[in-house]
Amino acid sequence: MRVAAFISGRGSNMLALSDACADPGFPASLALVLSNSAEAQGLALARERGIAAEAVPHRPFAGDREAHERAIDAILTRERIDLVCLAGYMRLLTPWFVERWRNRIINIHPSLLPAFKGLNTHARALETGARWHGCSVHFVRVAMDEGPIIAQAIVPVAAHDDPASLGARVLAQEHRLYPHALGLVASGAAQVEGERVILRDHALPPAAINPPDGRK
Ligand code: GRF
Repeated sequence: MRVAAFISGRGSNMLALSDACADPGFPASLALVLSNSAEAQGLALARERGIAAEAVPHRPFAGDREAHERAIDAILTRERIDLVCLAGYMRLLTPWFVERWRNRIINIHPSLLPAFKGLNTHARALETGARWHGCSVHFVRVAMDEGPIIAQAIVPVAAHDDPASLGARVLAQEHRLYPHALGLVASGAAQVEGERVILRDHALPPAAINPPDGRK
């Protein structure tokens, strides 16, 4: 399965996917990294690894989001991409693109969905006094941060946490969870049925995901 990672910034989740894909036994390869910003640090990091990396800046499309995504779609077709992994891609996709790629786009979000959709998830988790926080990988639907959940990892909230410390522990879990979830999708073990993800029995998450004490 040929994967494209969409990024807007540093690209640490993209690098975690790239590490997983470097294993010859992994069922996906990272064929392309694409960004809406030529300045995204992750583009240079991908190129250093020999991964094709392209920017399709949204500004020249002057607010025509669908035209921007048609340009992206043409690149995905040219590169024979099978699956899109959103990895810190900071633009909401249009219904046109989401439906065209239905069940072929997955996203990582830094909260235990359906809680805390949107931005500033770590600060909001702390404000509500949540005892548990974490991250989710899900199939993408038109509404932001919605769609069938593939996998989640949980992180305990400590009394001394601030958004940065909590976010750092969540990010460490993201880097483990996203390759795990991509493996489930690329191998066919995770399938959407009636807007829920069904995992084949042997694909139950290993105990290493959702560690009860948040340690690696
Ligand atoms: C991650 O926290 C991810 O969950 C969110 O955006 C951030 C991207 O970080 N969607 P990075 O670019 O992968 O380092």
